[in-house]
Amino acid sequence: MSCPMTRVRAAVSLGIRCWHSPHPHRSLALRAPLFCPPVRPMYTRSQSGADVGAMVVDLRSDTVTKPCAEMRRAMAEAEVGDDVYGEDPTVNEIQRHAAQLLGTEDALFVTTATMANLISVMVHCRLRGSEVLVGDESHMFFYEQGNTAQVAGVFPRSVRTLKDGRLDLKDLESKIQHDYPDVHFAQTRLVCLENSHNRMGGRVLPLSYMQEVRDLADRYGLKIHLDGARLLNAAEALRVEAAEIVRFCDSVSLCLSKGLGAPVGSLLGGNVEFIAEARRVRKLLGGAMRQAGVLAAPGLVALRLAKETTKLDHQNAKTFAKAVHELASPVCSTDPAAVDSNMVLLTITAPLIAQELCNRLSANDQQSDVVVKALVISPGTVRLVWHRDVSTENTLQALEKLKQVLQKYNTGAP
Ligand SMILES: Cc1ncc(COP(=O)(O)O)c(C=O)c1O
Repeated sequence: MSCPMTRVRAAVSLGIRCWHSPHPHRSLALRAPLFCPPVRPMYTRSQSGADVGAMVVDLRSDTVTKPCAEMRRAMAEAEVGDDVYGEDPTVNEIQRHAAQLLGTEDALFVTTATMANLISVMVHCRLRGSEVLVGDESHMFFYEQGNTAQVAGVFPRSVRTLKDGRLDLKDLESKIQHDYPDVHFAQTRLVCLENSHNRMGGRVLPLSYMQEVRDLADRYGLKIHLDGARLLNAAEALRVEAAEIVRFCDSVSLCLSKGLGAPVGSLLGGNVEFIAEARRVRKLLGGAMRQAGVLAAPGLVALRLAKETTKLDHQNAKTFAKAVHELASPVCSTDPAAVDSNMVLLTITAPLIAQELCNRLSANDQQSDVVVKALVISPGTVRLVWHRDVSTENTLQALEKLKQVLQKYNTGAP
C-alpha cells in the first residue's frame, strides 16, 4: 500500500482534486465535489499484446470501460456490512438513490443486468405454465441463453421487433394468450421491452409508444418489465427524467457497467412487494452478496456522473455518424437520423464485408498507429458504441482510421 501522501501526489498528477473529508469512514461516492478528471482520459498507447505502441479506441461495446480514479477510491474507502442482513450502508445508499431515480417504491442492487432481467421474469411469472412476450431482437431473447426457459421454466414467445426497437403491436396483441379458455395454451403474464435497444443500435422508445404498450398490457391484465440496461441513455435522448420512462412499467433493470462506466452491478426497481420477492429470488440464484458496498460505491459515482457521460457519448456518436454519412462511401454507410444515443450501426456492402472492415480497422500497421475495435453483429452490420473511455479526440482518430480503410474501396482497388 502506498502512503497517503504518495496517493495524494499520484492523484494530483492525474488531475484529481483531493480534499480531506470530515467523515473519514463515509463512502467517497457520497461526497462532492467530483474526484474524476474533468476531461475523460484518452486511450493511452497500449503497453502489451498485439496492439503494443498503438492508440487503441475500443468501440466494441460500452461494457469495456475501466473504472476511473474516483470509482477506485470509492471502492477502497466504501463503508461496508453484510448485505444479506441488510447491513451494508453503501448498498442501502445506492438502493435508496436508485428508487428515487427510477421513481419506484424500492430498488435492489444485483450483480448483472442478465440477473436483473431473469429475477423480474421469475417474480412476475410465479405460476408454472406462464409465458413471457419478448422482442425477437431483444437482449433477453437473443443473448441470455434462453434463461427464462432454462432456469425459470417460463416460456418465451417472441414478438417481431421493428427497426426502431419497438415491438410490432399487432403482432404483440396477436400473441397474447388471454382468458385461458383452452387448456392447450400457456398463460401470458408479462411483456418485456428494451430501452434503449441494443441490437437495433441504441434506438430509444418514445414515451407515446410506452403508453400504448401500457394500455395494451392493462387491457389483458399483463405486467411490463423494462430491460433498461441503458435507461439513462434513453432518458438523455428523450430529455426526460428516467422515472418518466419507468412509470409505464411494473419493473425495470438499469445497468451500471455499460456506458455509465462502473465495473459491476445493476439495479432493479419495482414496488415494495416486487422487490421483497426479488430479494428472495436473488438469493435463490446465488446473487446475494455480503460486503457488496465495495461494488456499489463505484456505481454511486457512475450515477452521479451519468448525465455528463451520456450527453458526451451521444454527441460523439452523432458526430461520427454524420461524418460517415458525408463520406458517401459505396461500401459503408449509416443513417445519422437513426442515431438516438451512444451507438452507430454501419451497413457494409460488397465488395467489403463486415469482418474485413473490423480486421482492417484493428490493424496496427505502418499506415496508422490507431487501432479501432468494432463489432460485427450480423453479416452486413458493424456496431460502434461510445462510452466513458472514448473522448471526442478518440472519436476523430477513429474517423480518420475509417476514412483510411475505406479509401481503397473508393478507388475500386481491393
Ligand atoms: C440491453 C441489455 N440488457 C442486458 C444486458 C446484460 O448485461 P450483463 O452483461 O450485465 O448481464 C445487456 C448487455 O450488453 C444489454 O445490452
